[in-house]
Order: sequence, then structure tokens, then C-alpha cells
Amino acid sequence: MTEKIIILDFGSQVTQLIGRRLRELNVYCEIYPYNKCPGIDGSVRGVILSGSPCSVRDANAPDVDLSSVKGKIPILGICYGAQLLSYKYGGEVRGSLAREYGRAMLNVVRPGGLFDGVSPRSQVWMSHGDTISALPEGAQVLASTDDVEFAAFKFDGEDTYGVQFHPEVYHSLEGLRMLSNFALNICGCEAGWTPASFVESSLQELKEKLGDDKVILGLSGGVDSTVAAVLLNKAVGSNLTCIFVNNGLLRKNEYESVLESYKGMGLNVIGADASEDFLAALAGVTDPEQKRKVIGRLFVETFEKYAGSIENARWLGQGTIYPDVIESAGIPGIASKIKSHHNVGGLPEKMHLKIVEPLRMLFKDEVRRVGRALGIKDELVGRHPFPGPSLAIRIIGDITKEKLDVLREADDIFIRSLRAYDCSSMGFPSAADPSRMASNLYDAVWQAGVILLPIKSVGVMGDERTYKNAVALRAVVSTDAMTADWFRFPYDFLSKISEDIINKVPGVNRVVYDISSKPPSTIEWE
Ligand code: XMP
Repeated sequence: MTEKIIILDFGSQVTQLIGRRLRELNVYCEIYPYNKCPGIDGSVRGVILSGSPCSVRDANAPDVDLSSVKGKIPILGICYGAQLLSYKYGGEVRGSLAREYGRAMLNVVRPGGLFDGVSPRSQVWMSHGDTISALPEGAQVLASTDDVEFAAFKFDGEDTYGVQFHPEVYHSLEGLRMLSNFALNICGCEAGWTPASFVESSLQELKEKLGDDKVILGLSGGVDSTVAAVLLNKAVGSNLTCIFVNNGLLRKNEYESVLESYKGMGLNVIGADASEDFLAALAGVTDPEQKRKVIGRLFVETFEKYAGSIENARWLGQGTIYPDVIESAGIPGIASKIKSHHNVGGLPEKMHLKIVEPLRMLFKDEVRRVGRALGIKDELVGRHPFPGPSLAIRIIGDITKEKLDVLREADDIFIRSLRAYDCSSMGFPSAADPSRMASNLYDAVWQAGVILLPIKSVGVMGDERTYKNAVALRAVVSTDAMTADWFRFPYDFLSKISEDIINKVPGVNRVVYDISSKPPSTIEWE
């Protein structure tokens, strides 16, 4: 039984980050909505209560019965979680008068324990409207800030802690140390959750589950489906057949080069070229959601057609990852985090196959680490995310072969130039693996692409007047695509890329750079 920490989600925007930080410490954890935890068995070493947009003083404030855990296994309440611990057990919580948002300096009054090895004064991140005005009887303050007296506290004689700041966010400079103290020292977790241990245990599980059954998997060329395929291939060998659909909307030479790289990896891949069907079905479609629907439907049809030739297939492998699985706490008024643009829905029900999702408990960065542990080339593991509807949602308006060709050329120049630009001395962290520095701009950027705009503008080339399209460059840094910031390119790179695209791509005479972050914008334009 894998030891774990359970995180109960009360609806904070950063709950997932608690999970990711624990996983960075090689501690396995699972996140559940506060009211849907499957139970605390002997494998649970500790419980973390997340933050929340709610106030514990609200009549319908989310609450949880802790009688079977408090005093028995360690608990850490974060922000709302800390206020809940205080409020439930006799302390007081009131609306805060002081501004308790942003950076604050924490003064540790009782070092050791949760604050073992943490500086006496340490920067933390606060974000709350309520504040604890009195601690429950038998609780002691561990740390304070200028505005928040009970910034951290502990119940006497038990490992129950509360912190009103967010140790999981990067602005809490020693937050990881505090989480490490909690998980490793207080809960006694062993930090054994590593990519290699994951590969070993999941291969064993997959072998038991799948036996001699045949498995089909849709490959996209992306990191998740590739890692899922390699893992399944190791478990069931030639019983795995992968299908890679060419929707005619892929990047320049992508279909051929990805197929080629899969062959080199010993995967059994069927290339399903349905480009003509997709382009025909998309003719005249301008609405982004309609594009997604058409592409989703055709993907299912194409996949089914090719999958039908594989006799006795019992399982459908999918590269689903943990952020797609985690249910948010579903607090009224808080938007659900589940994205609407997952475009392979409908596949399993129609095909009567059982689902196997070997990566469903992994975060994206873990998928990459597992990929490396499996020996997958960096070139594949470090690939940028690419949307299912591909270039269709990067051509604003209707899609034609001509527009696709223009976009493919511009995109190819952009991506190749990112790879070619040596930025090893510039201090950009790698987007795929922030623990090291990026060697080139492709590695520094989380996702990049070109958007073909339906705008023509006047230009001059030689002595000639031109009237051609504009393209927008998009490049962002992100960790999970939920939020993103535009990438600060060196000016010389922007200048060169603009020159190259305008000189080499017929049909384009203007290049603009998108400097919008998400929110309020999104990564894709459609
Ligand atoms: P947005 O544009 O919502 O994108 O900020 C977030 C991430 O999701 C990708 N994306 C999609 N992926 N089908 C997909 O499989 C889609 O319809 C889709 N739309 C956006 C986007 O590229 C980014 O990585």
C-alpha cells in the first residue's frame, strides 16, 4: 500500500499546487473535494486542509468531520483550513481589518517542528479576508507577521497545525521547507515516490490488469499519449496497437516526423491519414466551437474505422493526467476547473472498450520525468503542448489549404528559431523542468505557436506596395495552462523572427507579438 497524504480541497485556486509541491518532495498525495474523501485508511500519513474562497463564518461554510483523524494523524490546515481548525475547536475568526494579501514577513516564535531549518524571518504569501482573532484553548502560536498574530499555530500534545499563509505558492520562499517538515518529519513519509518507483509499480499493475488482452491507444505526438504508449508497450508488448490520426491540421512535416520517431521507439503504430476528410468537413466553418465539434466527431469516426481492424481489442489506453481527473470542490459561485475542450469524449462509450489510463495520478511535470525514466528522447518529452484541434484554432475564420500552408511556414520558422536560439547564459528556467536552466528558447517557453489573422495590411517590399496578412506570435510560460504569462523574448530574437517570417513566407507582411496573459486572455486565440 503506497503511503500518502490526503489533501481536502475547500475550493482554493491553488489547491493543486499543494499536491504538486508534495510530489516534488517525492511524497505521494491525493486531492479530494472536502466532502468526497473516500476515507482514511492505514496508508494515510497525514491530512492537509486547503484554502477556500469561503468564510468559516458563513452559514453554509464548507466543513468536514475530523473526529477520526484529529489527534491521531497529523493535520495541516492552510489559510481557510487553519481558520476552520481554529473555529471548530473553540477559537475565534472575524473579518480582517488589516490588508492580509500579498507578501508578508513571518516571525517564527517557536522554531523547530514545522519551522525546522526555516529562517527566523521568512517571506510568506497571504491571501485572506478573515483572520483568527483567538486561538482555541490548548493551541499555541508558532509564528506571527506584523498584521497577523496567529499566522501559524499548533495544538498542544498533537500534530495538528494551522498556517494562515500559503506555503505552497512560490512567493512563500521557504514554504517548501515547511511542507517538507510536515510531510517527512511530522507525518513520517519516506519520500519514495520517484519516477523509477512509479514505473516499476505501474508496470506490475498494468500487467496484472491487462494480462494477454489487446489494447488500442490514440497517439497525438504529445508528451502524455507518448509516455502512456511507452509504458503500456513495456507492460503488454505487441498487444498494444497505437493509432496516430492525421487530421490535416498538423504542423509542417509533423505527421511524417512523429510517425518516424515512434517507429524508432519500437511502438506498433498505424498512421491514419484522414486529412482530406477533415479539410472537407471544415470548409466554411468559422465558429471556434463548431470547428472543435467537427474535428472531434471526425476524430472519433477515423479512430473507430482504424481500430475496427484490430480484432478482439478489449482496452482503450488514454493519456489522461491528474489535473483532468481532480474534481474541484464545486463550491457554488466558483467556476469549475474542468475545461470544455477535451475533444476525445465519446470514444469509449461507443466502442465498448474498457479504459486504462496509466498516467491518471500524475501531474504534467511528473509525466515528463516518468518519460525520461522510460528512456524517451528529450525531443519528445520536452515537446510543447499542442491543442487537439491543431492549427484549425490558430486560423481565425474559415480554414483553407492555402491558409494552412501560410501558417505552417510561419509556424515552422518560429519553432525552428526558438530551438536555434542559445539562451543558456540568460538565466531562463526550462519550462519542462524548472530545476534546470533552459539551453534554448524552445526549452524556456512552455508553449508557442503562430496565429494567422484575418487582417490584411499595407506594406512595402522593394518598390512594391503589398497588401497581405498579419500573423501573431504567441509564446507563454505556464505550469498547467490554467494561468499563463507572455514570454519576455530578447528584442534581437523578435526582430530576427519578424524579418525571417516576412521575407520567407509569401502572403505575410506583418508580424505582431501577443503580450496578453491568462487570465484575462487565453493561450489560444480561439
Ligand atoms: P486556452 O486557450 O484555454 O488553452 O488557454 C489551454 C491549453 O489547452 C490547449 N487547448 C486545447 N487542447 N483541445 C485540446 O486538446 C482543445 O480544443 C484545446 N483548446 C486549447 C491549449 O493549446 C493550451 O495548451
